Amino acid sequence: MKRDFLCINNLSAAEIERLIKRAVELKSGKDRSTCPLIGKSVGLFFEKPSTRTRFSFEAGIYQLGGQPIYLTPKEIQLNRGESIADTARVLSRYLSALVLRTYKHSTIEDFASYADVPVINGLSDAHHPCQALADLMTIYEKKGRLNGIKLAYVGDGNNVVNSLMEAAARTGLQLAIACPEGHDPSADILKASQSAAGSSIHITRDPHEAADSADVVYTDVWVSMGQEQEAEAKKQKLRSYQINSNLMERAKKDAIVMLCLPAHRGEEITDEVMDSPLSVVFDQAENRLHTEKALLESLLS
Ligand code: CP
Ligand code: NVA
Repeated sequence: MKRDFLCINNLSAAEIERLIKRAVELKSGKDRSTCPLIGKSVGLFFEKPSTRTRFSFEAGIYQLGGQPIYLTPKEIQLNRGESIADTARVLSRYLSALVLRTYKHSTIEDFASYADVPVINGLSDAHHPCQALADLMTIYEKKGRLNGIKLAYVGDGNNVVNSLMEAAARTGLQLAIACPEGHDPSADILKASQSAAGSSIHITRDPHEAADSADVVYTDVWVSMGQEQEAEAKKQKLRSYQINSNLMERAKKDAIVMLCLPAHRGEEITDEVMDSPLSVVFDQAENRLHTEKALLESLLS
C-alpha cells in the first residue's frame, strides 16, 4: 500500500530515527549505490514560490536516478475547473510520487486520497514536515541526540512550528514556544502533541523565558506566504520576538541558531546572529536535500 507524508505524524518515532540516520549516511557520500528512482518521474506541483524545497527535491530526485517534473497552477487544467480527484488519478498513471506545496492543507489531503502514488507535503498553511525532518537531522548532527534537547522557538505560531511540535512529540525534543497572543500555533496540534507520552511542549509570551538555557534557538519569518494582507500589524506585534544577541545571552553558551529560510534579516533575526558561528542555517538548508532523498527512497522502494 502506498504511504503518504502529509505531516510528521505519518511517521513513527522509529521511522524518523531511521530516516535521519539514512540521511546522515547519504550526506557522508559513502553510499553511492542506490538509484531507486531510475526510470521514474516525480511531479512537483507548487501553488506558492520556493527556493529550497524546489531545488532540493529536483536535485535529490535526479541524484536518485529519477526525473522531476515541476508545474504551477497556471500550467495545468486544475485552474480551469478539472477536479483534484481527476487530476490525482491521471497523474498517478504517469508519476511515481507527487510533491505538493499548497495554501490549504485540505488540498494536499484531497490529492492524497485520490492518488495511487505517495503524496509528499512540501509545505501547506498548516504543516511543513520536510523542513522538520531536515531540522531534526541538523540538531542530531550538531548535538548528537534529540531526546532532552531544549529547542526555543521564538516568533510566529505557524506551519513550521506546527511540524516542530509533532516532531518534538515523536523524538523527545523539549519545545518552548514564545509567540504573541493571537499568533499561537495550531491548538489541535499543540493538544495532540502535548498528550504524547514523555512530550514537553510549553507556550509562553516571553521570548527570554523560552530561550532560557536553550540548546537550540529557532525562528521563522513573521509573515508567511499567503498572509501578506496582515503583514504590518503582525510585524508590530512580533517586534519583541526577534532573535538578537541580547536574546542569545539567555541560551546555553553552545546553543545553535536555526531558521528554515528565507530570512528577513532585521525582522525575525539580526545580521549579527544570523552570520555568527552559532548559526547553522545553511547546514539546515543543505539537510533538506539529504532528508528528502532518504524520504523518497523509503516511500518508493
Ligand atoms: N525553507 C523552505 O521551505 O524554503 P523555500 O520556501 O525556499 O522552499
Ligand atoms: N512559514 C513560512 C515558511 C517558509 C519556508 C511560510 O509558510 O511562508
